[in-house]
Amino acid sequence: MDKTARATFGTKLGIIAATAGSAVGLGNIWRFPSQTAQDGGAIFVFVYLACVAFFGVPIVLAEFILGRAGKANSARAYRNLAPGGWFHVFGYFSISAAFLIMGFYMVVAGWTLEYLRLSLTGELASTNDFGALFSSLTNDAGTQIGWMAVFVLGTGGIVAFGVKKGIELASKLMMPLLLLVMLVLCVRALTLPGAGAGLSYLFAPNLETAGDAGARLLTDALGQSFFSLSVGMGTLMTYASYFGRDVRLAKTAGTMAALDTAVALLAGVIIFPAAFALAAHPESMVETLKAGGPGLVFISIPQLLQSLPAAQVWSVFFFLLLVLASLTSTISLFEVITAFVHEEVRVTLPKKIFSPRGEAAGTGETAVSPGTLRQEYRIARPFAAVVIAAGIIALGVFCACSLEENSALRLFGLSFFDFLDFLTAKLMMPLGGIFISLFAGRRLDKKILEAEYSNAGTLSLRFFKVYRFILRWIAPAGIAVVLVCGLF
Ligand code: PHE
Repeated sequence: MDKTARATFGTKLGIIAATAGSAVGLGNIWRFPSQTAQDGGAIFVFVYLACVAFFGVPIVLAEFILGRAGKANSARAYRNLAPGGWFHVFGYFSISAAFLIMGFYMVVAGWTLEYLRLSLTGELASTNDFGALFSSLTNDAGTQIGWMAVFVLGTGGIVAFGVKKGIELASKLMMPLLLLVMLVLCVRALTLPGAGAGLSYLFAPNLETAGDAGARLLTDALGQSFFSLSVGMGTLMTYASYFGRDVRLAKTAGTMAALDTAVALLAGVIIFPAAFALAAHPESMVETLKAGGPGLVFISIPQLLQSLPAAQVWSVFFFLLLVLASLTSTISLFEVITAFVHEEVRVTLPKKIFSPRGEAAGTGETAVSPGTLRQEYRIARPFAAVVIAAGIIALGVFCACSLEENSALRLFGLSFFDFLDFLTAKLMMPLGGIFISLFAGRRLDKKILEAEYSNAGTLSLRFFKVYRFILRWIAPAGIAVVLVCGLF
């Protein structure tokens, strides 16, 4: 094989599994329910769905187009597509976003490992105060840091194996299982007496509670849709650089978004009915939910699991899958940085000549002194993975410590953990969305956009004009309005 050829995903199923694997994760099962609860239920859900359809999906497609046409990590791809411009700076922005997201995401992923341990040892089954159990975890920085580090290293290990053997295989195995277990939990939650209150909270709009959240609801919903779809910061672009020429981009974007949305709604249909049905005081549940935060999933799901026969088995299964769903997302975040380091960073080291005639293999060599050459080396994936993992662990330590009660690690009135969540999901990703849509709609050569949209003329160009109009006007303007309204 030509050494310079880029790796590609092997199969179509692999592509769906990897992109949906990136999208489906803690964003759906942990973040979506807690945002819904904080913003008062159904109205949030509807605004969220609108954001997915009008902004999310078109920008997912734009990332696929840019990624496949740019054929490189997100910084190099902009250079390839618009030589001589400053656009690659946005690539650095997106790589930083991936790093910052991992700072808090890995901490939550660490919680899933702790809950898996608690399920395996039976400790979860013997608890009767799930709220207290959760807050004792968030007040124990040592445990959080330990599990976070395990998660980071596990992710790094898989990414070190590369695209086909690592990312694709892992995703293909995990995604179908996750859906299956969630369906079982859904049936259980819906058959609990009193589950209806949770369903109507999720799907029957209540204008009063939405009014309380006000314009914040818009930014929250927009941020959640981007976060959940993994869109706006180069993850999907990096994955699309491994797509073959025959992949149908629009179809893939639609399938991935549909799966992601289905899992988020499924998580809602499990968690809210369970929370209402199992609450000690269902009548004050709406207030509790509003105040509720990151703990929702870690409190109401374990409670729901207890009501199943063979609770421990289900509990192990559920948390194992949550670990795996998080892993397919962390892998995609990690890959954004790894692809960049591996492809862009070079180190120059002296190289001894071993060949008898004094010739050296490789490129970019200059003689330094007799017997020694300097050679530029790429940083191998495993080595890049180790360095990146160390950086993420360092950031994660601050996030984990910031959750302890009375921690001084606060910025702008938020814990460092919440600050990173806010900065990335509500600012960086929407800003990234504006940039990507403008770049694809206005800067990218229209012929390239058209060729990628239609797989070099083999697919119909139906809706192409509408799509380009969305990229040039609707998406950037709409996102900008939401951002401005929500922040001021
Ligand atoms: N979409 C992932 C989730 O829902 C999180 C993520 C965000 C992954 C951004 C990659 C990039 O859990």
